[in-house]
Amino acid sequence: MSEKDAASGLVEFIRACPSAFHAAAEISRRLDEAGFTHLPEGGAWCVEPGGRYYTTRNNSSVVALKVGSELDTYHFQMAAAHGDSPSYKVKTVPELEGPDGYLRLDVEAYGGALDYTWFDRPLGLAGRVLVREGSRVESRLVNLDRDVCLIPSVAIHFDRSRGLAPQLNRAVDLVPMLSAGALGRGAFEQMVAHEAGVEPSDVLGHDLYLVVRNEPRVWGEAGEFVSGGRLDDLQCAYAALEAFLAAENAHDVSVLTCFDNEEVGSGTKQGARSTLLADTLRRTSAALGRSYDEHLRALAGSMLVSCDNAHAVHPNHPEGHDPANRCRINGGLAIKEAANQHYCTDAFSRAVILAILDRAGVPHQVFANRSDMAGGSTLGNLSNAQVSVHAIDVGLPQLAMHSAYETAGARDTELGIAGLRAFFETNVVIDGANAADLR
Ligand code: CO
Repeated sequence: MSEKDAASGLVEFIRACPSAFHAAAEISRRLDEAGFTHLPEGGAWCVEPGGRYYTTRNNSSVVALKVGSELDTYHFQMAAAHGDSPSYKVKTVPELEGPDGYLRLDVEAYGGALDYTWFDRPLGLAGRVLVREGSRVESRLVNLDRDVCLIPSVAIHFDRSRGLAPQLNRAVDLVPMLSAGALGRGAFEQMVAHEAGVEPSDVLGHDLYLVVRNEPRVWGEAGEFVSGGRLDDLQCAYAALEAFLAAENAHDVSVLTCFDNEEVGSGTKQGARSTLLADTLRRTSAALGRSYDEHLRALAGSMLVSCDNAHAVHPNHPEGHDPANRCRINGGLAIKEAANQHYCTDAFSRAVILAILDRAGVPHQVFANRSDMAGGSTLGNLSNAQVSVHAIDVGLPQLAMHSAYETAGARDTELGIAGLRAFFETNVVIDGANAADLR
C-alpha cells in the first residue's frame, strides 16, 4: 500500500470508529468483506486449514484468524491493538438542569484524557444503547454524528492564572452543555431514543461517549503529519488490520486482535486481561482436531506483537525523553522496552522482530522511558497473563497522546503496515528461547 493510501485509509478508519463498539463493527465489516466467517462465541465452531474466521466479545473486541493451509509447524503469529480511547462517558441519569436555563450532560472520565484539550470544540456522542423490543432486550450501535454539545472554557478575565496552567476539576469544569434554554429535561433521552429508533421509555441502558468532531486530516506543507481524535490506538489498529488482510502465510495461524478497555486497565470480560484471546486460540485448536498438548506446544512456538502508539520526541520538550532510546515522527515502528516489563519486549522477541524488519527493509526505532519516569503500560504484558507466549511491544510514534486531537506521522501508518505485514508473512519457527528460524 502506498504511503498516501495508508494515510487516507487511516483518516477514513478514524471517521468510521467514533467508539470502541464502532471500531469492532468496522473491523468486522472489513473482515466480512474479505470473506471471513463470523464464529459467534455462543455457537459451535467449524474451523479448517485455509479458512478465515473471526469472533467478537461484547461487540467491542474482535479476534480474527487466518488458518494456514500447510500447518507443518503448528503455531500462532499474533498482533494486538486496542479500539478504545480516552473520553468521557455519559452517566445513567444523563442530564443536569441549570444553572440559568442551561441543560448539561453528567459525564465521567473514561481513561486518562488530557482534560484541557477537550474544551471549546463541538462534540458528538457514540457508543451503544440497549433497547426493549417486545420481550427482547437488544443492542444498537448509536452515533450522534453531529455537533451536540461543547465544554466551554472559562474566560481569562475570570481567572488570569487559567491561561497558563489550568487547575481542572472534572466534576466542575468538564461538564458539557447541551442547551442554553431551547431544550428541556428529557431532550437527551429523546435524541438517543430517536437515533436508536425506539421510544425513550424503551432505552434501558447506554454506553455513550463524547466524540471529538474535528475532522482527522493529513496536513503540513510537506504532508508529514496526520492529526485526529483516537490515533491512540486506531493508527495501530488500522495498520495491524491492513497488514493482516494483505499478508499470506500458509504455515501459521495468523491472528489479529483488537481489544476494548485498554484505557481503563483491560480488566473486563473483553479486555486484554480477559480469557478472550486464550479461549479463541484454544477453541481454534480443538476445532482443528488438535489435542490440548498440541495446543500448548503451539503456544510455546507462538509470538504476539502488541501494537500501541508510542511517544515521539516532543519538539518543545525533548528533555522529557530518554537521551538515547527515543523515536521520532515518520521513522517507523518503535520497539518499546522497559526493565520492569510493563512493556513485554525482551532480547529474544526484539531480536526476532528486528531480524524480520531488517530482512524486509522496513525501518524501525527504539523507545524507552527516561529512567526517572514511570511510563505507561499496555496490552502485551496483560495479555501474556492469559496467553503466555513470546511477545514484543511496538508502536507508531505520536505527539500529544490522550489529547482530544492527537498528532502522528503521515508516513508511519504505511511503515507500520509494512512492518507488521513482514511479521505475518514470515514463518517464525521458534525453539523455546534458544532460537527462531525465519522461513
Ligand atoms: Co494506547
